[in-house]
Amino acid sequence: MCLRDERVLLGVSGGIAAYKAAELVRRLRDAGAQVRVVMTDGAKRFITPLTLQALSGNPVRDSLWDEGAEAAMGHIELARWATRVLVAPATADTLARLAHGHADDLLSTLVLATAAPVAVAPAMNQQMWAHPATQANVALLRGRGVQVFGPGAGDQACGEVGPGRLLEPDELVSALASQVRASAMLAGVRVLITAGPTFEDIDPVRFIGNRSSGKMGFAVAAAAAAMGAEVSLIAGPVALPTPVGVARINVRSAAQMLAAVMDALPGQDIYIGAAAVADYTPACVADKKIKKTAADMAVALDRTTDILATVTAATPRPFVVGFAAETHDLEHYARDKLQRKGLDLIAANQVGCAGGGFEADCNTLQVFWADGERTLGPDSKAVVAQQLLALVAERRAMANA
Ligand code: CTP
Repeated sequence: MCLRDERVLLGVSGGIAAYKAAELVRRLRDAGAQVRVVMTDGAKRFITPLTLQALSGNPVRDSLWDEGAEAAMGHIELARWATRVLVAPATADTLARLAHGHADDLLSTLVLATAAPVAVAPAMNQQMWAHPATQANVALLRGRGVQVFGPGAGDQACGEVGPGRLLEPDELVSALASQVRASAMLAGVRVLITAGPTFEDIDPVRFIGNRSSGKMGFAVAAAAAAMGAEVSLIAGPVALPTPVGVARINVRSAAQMLAAVMDALPGQDIYIGAAAVADYTPACVADKKIKKTAADMAVALDRTTDILATVTAATPRPFVVGFAAETHDLEHYARDKLQRKGLDLIAANQVGCAGGGFEADCNTLQVFWADGERTLGPDSKAVVAQQLLALVAERRAMANA
């Protein structure tokens, strides 16, 4: 585990797990990192700044308003100094404050002011972790590219049992080390991703759409950017925030998505078609609202152009990854698409069953290529996206070897 060139800003917030921060600082330094610690007021009720100062070898900061400390290294300078920010333990309150962009204490201000990748290691009572407010805050943070380490599950200090335990210091150091390794994995690589549904207009008020939420494609875009790629994301109509470091182009219909993809394609190294592109579009769009005069009606539909197949037919062509959502015979249909569309890799997920698919935050992907397969997850879409990109980088390196 190597963190030799890393300058880690460790944010400690106020939960009982703050006592583990002492061991964490030691393990980070053993792995070669320089460490500076920032504590919230709550954290100081559980562990003293002196302990963390002695272990980190650097003064501990705990206030935005400390004139002496600001004169030595101002908070913006400190935010720039960091190559990684790790908030461990991250309490429910700290997660909420970071998710909503607060800047009224030193830690939240630093997280806003830094350009370094941010990771949080949640620690709290299992009921607090499961609360929809906490889950929504974590989803917001993930959507912006913040990595979430843990939490683990087991006995809690409060006597309850469940998820909400801070990961052990060794686990946090290895999670940080894999973040460091991953951040170089796609350095300088250009990745074009499509995400979300497409809407095919019938008239000015009606359209044909589908249930794609865009969450998986956006998670792939966030993970690719965190791995050093130059990412362009062509998004169908979804209200998701744009991941940090990603260039986004919004489109509505399959035809617009095709045009945007072909426009952005030259120079791309990897194409990932995560969008649920409509296969059919109304043959003609009424320019006025259609009134219900007849007892029944039919809408004539034309086939849309297959974007994936168009991309694989281009020369030079990027490494192409397709997605497949299937309700049954997953491997059979996925392998058929892999071959028929000339893909390098296909990521298939089972829809229509519990625990994954369109609107869920969790997913399981079965990935197939000509002579292999791998199952990713079940895990959060963020983690599955990272694993998918690591596999793409691996397969692409083999294809180019
Ligand atoms: N896709 C595309 N252009 C289209 C339609 C789909 O690029 N016009 C891509 C999607 O982005 C996804 C993959 O193709 O990567 C999905 O394959 P598709 O054949 O659309 O799946 P289904 O419509 O589910 O296929 P089938 O009707 O054969 O089940």
